[in-house]
Amino acid sequence: MQETILITGGAGFIGSNFVLEWLEQSTGPLVNVDSLTYAGNLRNLEPVAARREYSFVRADICDRARMDQLLQEHQPRAIVHFAAESHVDRSIVGPEAFVETNVRGTFVLLEAARAYWNSLPRENQPKFRFLHVSTDEVYGSLGADDPAFRETTPYAPNSPYSATKAASDHLVRAYFHTYGLPTIITNCSNNYGPYHFPEKLIPLMITHALAGKPLPVYGDGLNVRDWLYVGDHCAALRLVLERGRPGETYNIGGRNERSNRQVVEAICEILDELQPASPHCPHKQLIQFVKDRPGHDRRYAIDATKLERELGWQARETFSTGLRKTVQWYLDHPEWTSDVLSGAYQEWIDRNYKQRSQDGAHSDPDGQQRSHECEG
Ligand code: NAD
Ligand code: TYD
Repeated sequence: MQETILITGGAGFIGSNFVLEWLEQSTGPLVNVDSLTYAGNLRNLEPVAARREYSFVRADICDRARMDQLLQEHQPRAIVHFAAESHVDRSIVGPEAFVETNVRGTFVLLEAARAYWNSLPRENQPKFRFLHVSTDEVYGSLGADDPAFRETTPYAPNSPYSATKAASDHLVRAYFHTYGLPTIITNCSNNYGPYHFPEKLIPLMITHALAGKPLPVYGDGLNVRDWLYVGDHCAALRLVLERGRPGETYNIGGRNERSNRQVVEAICEILDELQPASPHCPHKQLIQFVKDRPGHDRRYAIDATKLERELGWQARETFSTGLRKTVQWYLDHPEWTSDVLSGAYQEWIDRNYKQRSQDGAHSDPDGQQRSHECEG
């Protein structure tokens, strides 16, 4: 067994951030296995592409023979499993790809990992880790006064996305209990930060606001998410990988609950400040309330006490510092955004938002008139 770790989905949003930070800290060799769906972008990894400790392999986690071969070839000490279909709205429009990658893909990877782990010398077996990166959405939706999700909260997934992630979590848990494969599951809240594909709330609002396009807020905009800066998630994953206990689950979250309205307004305010000469100031005028997402979970909140107490993890970014960094990153990387906003992306935007706006988009639910100049 080598010092190498093998990660899946490292060309996506969180995976890219994980790879860049891992190699920045020279933590050891890393093999990135990704099939490069619409969400995978090798451009994110250009800064490390030529590093000796880094290698990229284009492969599908559903391909058992390829997974077996890669594990035998690289002899990793751990697998960190990010690869997934990850967007709730896409899971509503087309759930099949979610079952395929999130459920079957995780199953195939677990089977390959089990065969590889069984082939290791006995003394190396307890050192191996299969770290499964999952979401708080498996716990379902909270009422306004409910306590935050704990590791013991019963699963109650509501979307095809969260149902397939829940199924994958159950498989990972079963492989620990049945076969003794040293697995760990992390369930994290909503991430945001650099390299975030602009189909998700925060990067979509930033890129739309910069282009003067409508900012489509679903429903009444009072759904609450618990936001975590992606670098804080990656730090938690490194810690869990080194010190987490096999068979355990760790919730990861930054205690940053915000309604979608608050998030979008905060983005608009930062842009007003950073781009005072923009013709789109005040950016809030771009907000439009559109038809809600079917089955839209009302509130997520994570209780990360176990991770904080057992492993000493703390989020470094507050929502306000992390959001400012994120907006600044999009301002500094217009070429990344224009590269990503290709024809295929545009097709998705047309498909997802056309019907919502046909059903009667409206701007300000309070009906206030707003000045068209930035304040200050
Ligand atoms: P993403 O959609 O940005 O990236 C997913 C990556 O997986 C892409 O590079 C894609 O090419 C790759 N991929 C998809 N199907 C594949 C397959 N069959 N074989 C190989 N590679 C494949 O996702 P993300 O936001 O970076 O999320 C990564 C993981 O973290 C996911 O498992 C997700 O459920 C979990 N998670 C995400 C968030 C969040 O807020 N984004 C929060 C908690 C947990
Ligand atoms: P999203 O980023 O898709 O993450 P998730 O659904 O996994 O939490 O959405 C975050 C919240 O923002 C969610 O409540 C849906 C809402 N939302 C909008 O209001 N408008 C949008 O255009 C998008 C993409 C999301």
